[in-house]
Amino acid sequence: MTTLVTGATGNTGRHVVTELVRRGDRVRALTRNPAAAAAKLPSGVELVAGTHTAPATLAAALDGVTRLHITVTAGLAEVGPELVQRAVDAGVRRMTVVWGGGVGPVEQAVAESGVEWTLVEPQEFMSNTSGWIDSIRAEGVVREPYDRTSALVHEADIGVVAATALLEDGHAGQSYNLTGPESLTTHERLEMLSDAIGRDISFVRISHEQAIDRLIATGVPRADAEYVVGWYAAPNIESTTVVDTVERVTGRPARTFADWVTEHADRFRR
Ligand SMILES: NC(=O)c1ccc[n+]([C@@H]2O[C@H](COP(=O)([O-])OP(=O)(O)OC[C@H]3O[C@@H](n4cnc5c(N)ncnc54)[C@H](OP(=O)(O)O)[C@@H]3O)[C@@H](O)[C@H]2O)c1
Repeated sequence: MTTLVTGATGNTGRHVVTELVRRGDRVRALTRNPAAAAAKLPSGVELVAGTHTAPATLAAALDGVTRLHITVTAGLAEVGPELVQRAVDAGVRRMTVVWGGGVGPVEQAVAESGVEWTLVEPQEFMSNTSGWIDSIRAEGVVREPYDRTSALVHEADIGVVAATALLEDGHAGQSYNLTGPESLTTHERLEMLSDAIGRDISFVRISHEQAIDRLIATGVPRADAEYVVGWYAAPNIESTTVVDTVERVTGRPARTFADWVTEHADRFRR
């Protein structure tokens, strides 16, 4: 049996691949750039050139595949239902999806696919903290519009939950809301980072509009930038409320933000 993983080189997809490989699964990783993907993924993974946003081109990638992991990304909403149908027609019998932050056409299509499905619904990823690397390294500063609370989840835990749902029975028809094990303010996270790298980090408040403009400057469409910064201003209750889904599904406690900081501290040092 082969599992096809889309979004395989990304923040969550690479952890889905790593966990599947660790558990002895045969994994095919879909990527637009196999040469670059080889350095990011464990050996033994079959790399296939392509993109899940062009389902009509995926006949070879889906050949012999019985399990599919879908990473929702930009460009997938319009063609996601076609991807799901092509996967079912090709013989896929179990699907997981890491949602795009809400239940849209892709998540809906997976839930209506007629095969075993699990929706993985993480709240904020710990990897978002990487967005602070440049300003911390250069100036020892973080610029944010709000000091906000978040129960961030480690992206490796998202991967392990998805891999577990792909490989084990008992997860069909489930929607798994995922958080980390604690809810932390921005200042608490900065303090942990500061302790880890041995350097003071200043919090500089920017305006709501400056935060939107900063996102737009990185290529994010205005509507998405307004949504994200609006969410910073008034986070949804699910993103600040700790749930034990990671431990219930995987049998292991969720990774902490301190774990993430230990793994990534070098990236924040000068
Ligand atoms: N960050 C958060 O806090 C958060 C919270 C909840 C939900 N989410 C959602 O979770 C989902 C998964 O996030 P992620 O960070 O794991 O994904 P990601 O790293 O942004 O993307 C995964 C992979 O998909 C491919 N890809 C990216 N954009 C693409 C595009 N426009 N067209 C085709 N392929 C594309 C890339 O692989 P190749 O270049 O190798 O092809 C990329 O490595 C996203 O929908 C995100 O919005 C994020």
